[in-house]
Amino acid sequence: MCGIIGYIGKRKVVPVLIDGLKRMEYRGYDSAGLAYIRDGEIVAVKSMGKIARLEQQLQDVDAESHIGVAHTRWATHGEPNEKNAHPHLDCTGRIAVVHNGIVENYRALRKYLQKQGHRFTTETDTEVIAHLIEEYYKKDIPFIDALTSALLQIEGTYGLAILNADEPNKLYAARHGSPVIIGKGEKENFVASDAAAIIRYTNRVIYLNEGEVAEVTDDGFEIFTLRKDRVKPEVQKLTMTLQELEKGGYPHFMLKEIFEQPATVRNSFRGRLNLEMGTARLNGLKSHLDVIEKLKRIVITACGTSWHAALIGEYLIEELARIPVEVEYASEFRYRSPVLDDGTAVFVISQSGETADTLAALREAHNQGVSVFGIVNVVGSTIARETDAGVYIHAGPEIGVASTKAFTSQITVLALTALMLGRRRGIVSTERGYELASHLAKIPEKIKWILDSQTANIKKIAEKYHKKNNALFLGRGINFPVALEGALKLKEISYIHAEGYPAAEMKHGPIALIDENMPVFFIAIDDLMYKKVVSNIEEVRSRKGKVIAIATLGNEEIRRYADDVVYIPETDYLLSPLLTVIPMQLFAYYTAVLRGCSIDQPRNLAKSVTVE
Ligand code: G6P
Repeated sequence: MCGIIGYIGKRKVVPVLIDGLKRMEYRGYDSAGLAYIRDGEIVAVKSMGKIARLEQQLQDVDAESHIGVAHTRWATHGEPNEKNAHPHLDCTGRIAVVHNGIVENYRALRKYLQKQGHRFTTETDTEVIAHLIEEYYKKDIPFIDALTSALLQIEGTYGLAILNADEPNKLYAARHGSPVIIGKGEKENFVASDAAAIIRYTNRVIYLNEGEVAEVTDDGFEIFTLRKDRVKPEVQKLTMTLQELEKGGYPHFMLKEIFEQPATVRNSFRGRLNLEMGTARLNGLKSHLDVIEKLKRIVITACGTSWHAALIGEYLIEELARIPVEVEYASEFRYRSPVLDDGTAVFVISQSGETADTLAALREAHNQGVSVFGIVNVVGSTIARETDAGVYIHAGPEIGVASTKAFTSQITVLALTALMLGRRRGIVSTERGYELASHLAKIPEKIKWILDSQTANIKKIAEKYHKKNNALFLGRGINFPVALEGALKLKEISYIHAEGYPAAEMKHGPIALIDENMPVFFIAIDDLMYKKVVSNIEEVRSRKGKVIAIATLGNEEIRRYADDVVYIPETDYLLSPLLTVIPMQLFAYYTAVLRGCSIDQPRNLAKSVTVE
């Protein structure tokens, strides 16, 4: 979602803010803006569209200012135009606010403030925050008191960075429901929604907790609760590197992240596989294993691509550990009073660890008194911190909005979890465990094989079909969720309408859509259902649909049925999603490139959705 950054210190502020915004652009890119203090006044500059436009607007500005805040926006309230871009100012123009989140009671607050004489210039919910602080900021009232009084009136979520022209040596930050960190430097300090924005300058950070406010100067900071109790900060060290945030010679982050998968999958299982015992060990869950292995039911909840990984987790855990699993969209789970009885635990899966719906589902489960375990990528994120225990997937920073490497790492961790539980529950034998573990250990080189030998082929297929308006993705069993993911990837970045379906369900509806203009992707690997999938392929062909088959290397017969074939190496059926998804990611990527789409920042989407 929106990204925020604030800076105070020895450097000129504008380049620091622009650099920080660029590193967070994947969070939102409808509009951007910044504000700094010069000669006791606030100067605000805003622009529609991407950060590059804002940068251009500022190119002749050499502002001698060392304090400022900035924002990259994903619109929630009000059109994504220049006026509605952050920062938002109060009536006097002396308070500037950048905000990530939603003020839910903004209509009531706006009405009240208008009655008090405040003039609003935008349609945003955020503007009420600036005016509300102004309302409380009267003679003899310290700004921090006005700020906390205002925040106590706000319902909804916020991560905030705030400037007050009367205090050119202080930056304010606050958090409720949207992440905020303070970066601690030498004679300089940062406020940001995202570690990526500040890692270039410091790796020492403090995560603000819910309902905390910070007063930041160039050589220190103080943290309070909204009731003004002082909080002792805990400084943590970030592990991410700047290099991980660069494109490293690739034209897009998405392509880089697709090609990183041999390494990222390996990172997800490194040190966690025990080949000899045919099992896995996950230290993050260690102290809860006695409970987890006796569970009667697991509910996995997530959004988007993480939800697709959860569906694959359902197959893995049920097959290997024989524990019933249900998968729920986090946004639905939280509002439908789920039955979470004794013997049930919830797993949440999230790349960012900040998705508002997933976080709310986690809290709902906690309210009902059940344990919640996390499978998360971003270290130190809110979900990682609020779960009872969990496993990091170690995929490294994922910048492309369309998730790729996080997906395969999530599946890897789910496979490890299922294997470990299956072994502990005595369902998986040592031999079967060994077999699975050794197959998993070989997955990175098999992904590499696909990337090396099939990319040119997939590019050609994309050339053939990139002008189509629709596509179908079909798979069965554990590859049905991969079909969903293939369709989602294509929709997200190429804006082609695509549907994922269980192959056999096609005849109950989508078959009506098939004609010579419909490309249909089939996951047709050599598994127990191969013959059935071939029958489904025939059904499509006889209606003139175009068939693209993802098949097991060595299967020449399939060429008779398919217009195009992409091969993947053989592996254990349960691990096949780690391979079958790779051609789909590449197909979506090259199709979007050919259609001239914005690959890393597709329209209307955001990497981390911190609003409900
Ligand atoms: C957004 C992103 C998706 C992601 C989903 C869940 O919609 O665009 O790529 O899968 O959120 O995000 P999470 O960080 O919780 O995995």
